Amino acid sequence: MAIKFEQTQHNARIVSVGAYRPKRVVPNSEIVDKIDSSDEWIVQRTGIRTRHYAAPDESLIDMTTKASEIALERANLTGKDLDSVIFSTISYPYQTPSAATELLIRLGNESAAAFDISAACAGFSYAIGLANDMIRNGSAKNVLVVGAERLSDFTDPYDRATSFIFADGAGAAIVSASETQGIGPTIWGSNPENREAIMTRPSWLEFKDAEKLKAKLEAGEKVWPDIQQEGQKVFRWAVYSIAPIGNQAIAAAGISANDLSAFIPHQANERIIDTLAKSMELPDNVIIARDIQDTGNTSAASIPLAMDRLLAENPELHGKLALLIGFGAGLVYAGQVVELP
Ligand code: UT7
Repeated sequence: MAIKFEQTQHNARIVSVGAYRPKRVVPNSEIVDKIDSSDEWIVQRTGIRTRHYAAPDESLIDMTTKASEIALERANLTGKDLDSVIFSTISYPYQTPSAATELLIRLGNESAAAFDISAACAGFSYAIGLANDMIRNGSAKNVLVVGAERLSDFTDPYDRATSFIFADGAGAAIVSASETQGIGPTIWGSNPENREAIMTRPSWLEFKDAEKLKAKLEAGEKVWPDIQQEGQKVFRWAVYSIAPIGNQAIAAAGISANDLSAFIPHQANERIIDTLAKSMELPDNVIIARDIQDTGNTSAASIPLAMDRLLAENPELHGKLALLIGFGAGLVYAGQVVELP
């Protein structure tokens, strides 16, 4: 028997964005001694000059609350107006319940649907796609999409392959029902055979057996699950596989690259950003987000942080079209064209 209900079809768009960067600025000079590196090498290979680390008593949810409050205020909404929260993160330090439910309490909302997603650096674009589908299908009207990380908790300062890359920050966007459609189709997918190229190791189960843990600690073995990365493998994948996803997202939105005003890719490496823009043959007048230079790689937070900054520095971009693309651990990716709030 068919289920009968009144089908509704709404349009959706991003109505506001909010960002929070922790106060503490960490220059390359504070990182290099532990990994036999140099400011020059890090700048040349990644574009990163400084990044932000959260204060010792500043939690992931503290940062996220600030970013969300800004986004809510800019949308003329309060926390109570939200009917759903999608929280993308890989650094919430509790397996369950979700970061989204802790955030809801801070925002004074006692009943919205709330869940976390784990799509790493693609998480914001995954969540925008989900929020769009929820609104278009009538299961939500005002969705708070969060990308936030406290990666300093899961980064080994002595790991030469990662310590200079990862950083902390929080971004938030409100996606709401709207008269016109402001979010293009999401082109997303994965390359799971390379899932070990970025991975936290070892597993939490290492902590269950106290005797084994003690022996490992005494032997000087690493026990804390920091993020490990095969940089070159991920670099090659990003450079060769992600530009076609961008082109597909542009075509799916029914536009051409000439209609874009901004390109806001995940901020992983400035060389990747430049290569993607070149491979997609983006016109010179498309403004490219380069927040990585003083924010580092904040995984799920990187696109909303970069979007917020781009809008602050280029107010003429409000209402214009931007291509977003996230890619990272999984390996997973997602991209879509959006009308900037
Ligand atoms: O956010 C999720 C997605 N993540 C990414 O997209 C990250 C993608 N990967 C990358 O951005 C780059 O691979 C890294 C920035 C992580 C590394 O840059 P790279 O150009 O791929 O470096 P490499 O590993 O190929 O090493 C090149 C050289 C080597 O020296 P030789 O053999 O050429 O003499 C390394 O030993 O640089 C050396 N090296 C370093 N030198 C100073 C490697 N790491 C360092 C370091 N400082 N930290």
